[in-house]
This record gives sequence, C-alpha cells and structure tokens, in this order.
Amino acid sequence: MYFYRVINVTIIGTGNVAFHLSEVFFKHQEINLVEICGRKKNLPTEFNVFIDYNNNIFKLKKSDFYIICVSDEHIETISKNLNIDNNSTVLHCSGSTHINELSNHYSYGVFYPLQTFSIKKSINFSNIPIIIEGNSNKNLNKIKDLALMLSKKVLETSSKQRIAIHVSAVFTNNFTNYMRIVADEILKLNEIDTKILNPLTFETSDKLKYLSSKDAQTGPALRNDLKTIKKHLNLLKGTDHEKVYKTISSEITKLNNEL
Ligand SMILES: NC(=O)c1ccc[n+]([C@@H]2O[C@H](COP(=O)([O-])OP(=O)(O)OC[C@H]3O[C@@H](n4cnc5c(N)ncnc54)[C@H](OP(=O)(O)O)[C@@H]3O)[C@@H](O)[C@H]2O)c1
Repeated sequence: MYFYRVINVTIIGTGNVAFHLSEVFFKHQEINLVEICGRKKNLPTEFNVFIDYNNNIFKLKKSDFYIICVSDEHIETISKNLNIDNNSTVLHCSGSTHINELSNHYSYGVFYPLQTFSIKKSINFSNIPIIIEGNSNKNLNKIKDLALMLSKKVLETSSKQRIAIHVSAVFTNNFTNYMRIVADEILKLNEIDTKILNPLTFETSDKLKYLSSKDAQTGPALRNDLKTIKKHLNLLKGTDHEKVYKTISSEITKLNNEL
C-alpha cells in the first residue's frame, strides 16, 4: 500500500486569492486545508461550507504552511501577528512585496500565482505559473513541493525579478482590461452592444500563441495613418480618453521604426 504525507495548509484572508487557493487546496488529496482565518465574523458564502473558519489570528491551529493572502500593505502587520513554531513556513502571495517582510519568522517565503483572480470566475490552477522564493534552500524545496502539487509551472526568482514580473503583469492584464473598460464606455455612449468587441478581444490574446506581441500589432498608429487618428481624436475631444489615445498612439508609432 502507498502512504503519502498530507501537507497541512492554513490560509489567511478571505479575498480573491484566498478563495481560489481554498478551492484547489480543499479538493487536493495530499493537502489538508486546516482552516481559513479572516477578520470577518463568518466565512463569506462563496467559500465551501465545509472549510473551518477562524476569525482570531491569535488562535490558529498548527499547520505546515500559513499563506497570507491579504492586501500588500497589510502583509507585514499580519506576519508580525502570527505566533507560530519554527517547523511551520509563512508565505505571502504578492508580486511586489519583498520576502523580508516575513523575516520575523524562522521559515518563510513567497508563493505568487501569476494570474488574475476574481471570486466570480473559476480557474484551472494547473497552468498558472507559480513564482516562488524561500529564505533557505531547505524552505525553497518545501515551497516548491507545495507549488508543484498545484501547477506544472513553478519558477524560482529573486524579489527583484518578481517585481519585474508583476509590473509586466500590470501592463498585460490590468492596463489591457482597463482599455476594454474605456472601449465599452465609448460603445455604450453610442448605444452599441459591448459584446460586439468580444471576438476581437479574444483574438488579441489568441494571436500571441502564434506571433510575438510586436508582430501582432496592427492599427492606425502603427501605420501612421494620421487622417484616421485625427478622426478618432475628434470623437474623443474633451474626454479623459483623448490623452490616453494620444500617448499610446505616439508610443505605437515609434514601434513602426523598429519593425
Ligand atoms: N487578485 C489577483 O489577481 C492577485 C493575483 C496574484 C497575487 N495577488 C496577491 O494576493 C494577495 C491578496 O490579493 P486579493 O486579490 O485576494 O485581495 P482582495 O480580494 O482585495 O482581498 C484582500 C483580503 O485582505 C484582507 N485584509 C486586508 N487588510 C487586512 C487586515 N488589516 N487584517 C486582516 N485582513 C485584511 C481582506 O479582508 P476583508 O475581506 O475583511 O476586508 C481580504 O480578505 C495580495 O498580496 C495580492 O498582491 C492577487
């Protein structure tokens, strides 16, 4: 008979990342989700009802890992409130928080899943790159074992490299999505269903499977099509989007010389 050791994991926080980690940990045969700790009275209803919940950070049960999934500015404070023994490892999930914010512990590290998480949207963890760091080789290996239980793509980086990854993620996801918010607003103002943009939005990502981002670029700014750009700027005149259109178009036009 095959025996495996179950890894005990505790999640701190009840937001987007806490939710998705809780889903994947709860279902995993080799992981025991000990409890979730949050500051709300009860675990939010979106979470699995069979998960134990605790709203007193000073009364946590024993666990192998404590994963801090709270807003970046509160990671250090939460870490200082954690009173755990030296056999346990404390992790945070942030792209831009230095590993040293957890240095009040003996064993600590980073577990940054490179994906956009919203409670309302389910996600498959197996393809999500997990960026890890550890304060010692021994810990790094422990963190790696945990990460590999969730995903095939695990990458060890320094805190500096992780911040570069996070900045890139902000450009590729947050800024791109903001552009779609602007696009939707312009369509709504002109009484057009925003779904008309969906095939274009999806193709924009799909193309990257076949072409580099530079090779995939099209549009009036790349072609330096000044007549069209002028018409667009006329339509946007006096709105907040006029400046954004001008700035990004001028950056794209510069690409023309590189391609
Ligand atoms: N969302 C993403 O796409 C994503 C992706 C990768 C990494 N991350 C990282 O994952 C971490 C969590 O992000 P998130 O998106 O899950 O955040 P979120 O949905 O905004 O949730 C933040 C959580 O932090 C808790 N919190 C905030 N201040 C607290 C305090 N002083 N004491 C106790 N709890 C506190 C909140 O509690 P209440 O609900 O009670 O306010 C909430 O549970 C961050 O480090 C973030 O950088 C996020």
